[in-house]
Amino acid sequence: MSLDKRTFIQSPHTYPKKVRLVEMSPRDGLQNETGGFVPTQTKIELINRLSDTGLIHIEAASFVSPKWVPQMKDASEVMAGIQRKDGITYSVLTPNMRGFEGALAANAQEVSVFSAASENFTQKNINCSIEESLERFIPVIEAAKAQGIPVRGYVSTVMGCPYEGEIAPDKVAKVAKALYEMGCYEISLGDTIGTGTPLKAKRMLEAVNKEVPMHLLAAHFHDTYGQAIGNLNAVLEEGLAIIDSSVAGLGGCPYAKGASGNVATEDVLYLLEGLGIETGINLQAMVDTGFWICEQINRHNGSKVALAKGMSQV
Ligand code: HMG
Ligand code: MG
Repeated sequence: MSLDKRTFIQSPHTYPKKVRLVEMSPRDGLQNETGGFVPTQTKIELINRLSDTGLIHIEAASFVSPKWVPQMKDASEVMAGIQRKDGITYSVLTPNMRGFEGALAANAQEVSVFSAASENFTQKNINCSIEESLERFIPVIEAAKAQGIPVRGYVSTVMGCPYEGEIAPDKVAKVAKALYEMGCYEISLGDTIGTGTPLKAKRMLEAVNKEVPMHLLAAHFHDTYGQAIGNLNAVLEEGLAIIDSSVAGLGGCPYAKGASGNVATEDVLYLLEGLGIETGINLQAMVDTGFWICEQINRHNGSKVALAKGMSQV
């Protein structure tokens, strides 16, 4: 008896119908740029161009110490200069009350707090322990709530730490649960150094999903080892429907040496289109924006899809 070929194609369990992309390039993409200070006007134009691609969520800047992350020292000017479009959330990072006050004055519609599953990384990144970071976030979340501003929570080093190596999924789940219970409306899971692989990603997500509902979880995968697209496919199969990405694969964390950028937005869009998942984003507009910013900051385009499309146009 011959079997239908389709018998061997596992149908996806719960691939989402729609995915929301959170664009990271103006913040995660540029915060670690080492080729000189990126002019404020370039940051503003990048955000304005991204606003025309169909994105509905852009992480625009971060209100952190300029001594720690000099590239973000013009966060207020960037927020004041962009042309905000209706229907788009322009969010910013706020590690403490000082950052929150800056974000509020800049009219940010959403803020994010960030901790990690690794003690050493937390110390290097925000100069305190995980526990202290959570305590620091309490007044930020309370103040945001009083102003009606949603707070996103990040957990970094979810699949590996530059200082501690392997990270157990239950450590990730513990911090994600704490942020969720403190009032974060969404938890973004950061593979900061991109060492994860698909099964690890599934196991990590499974542990976190015991504490936080799937529809409130985002994947924030850096592509250092070229695994991000595979890892994203793995978590999409589990029903995750929010993805952080960065046009042209820009970026890296200043406190995670050697970490390359977020997965490229163009590559994620190509994957999602292939899976028949809606995003509302125009891939060609994103490709054009990626080439534009790379030219502005004299950087290699890290999106394979953009390079392939660029080649096919020649
Ligand atoms: P600290 O030195 O412990 O803080 O830094 P402090 O309270 O002692 O303040 C030191 C100085 O910074 C003071 O100035 C403060 O006023 C000033 P001074 O008196 O020396 O002139 N300061 C600030 N200035 C502006 N904005 C602020 C602010 N706070 C204090 N908000 C602190 C602690 C958290 C401030 C510092 O460690 C910091 O800014 N860290 C940010 C690190 C960062 O931005 N990392 C990258 C983002 S996280 C990431 O990329 C990971 C993610 O993408 C997910 C993933 O990939 O995994 C999200
Ligand atoms: Mg990141």
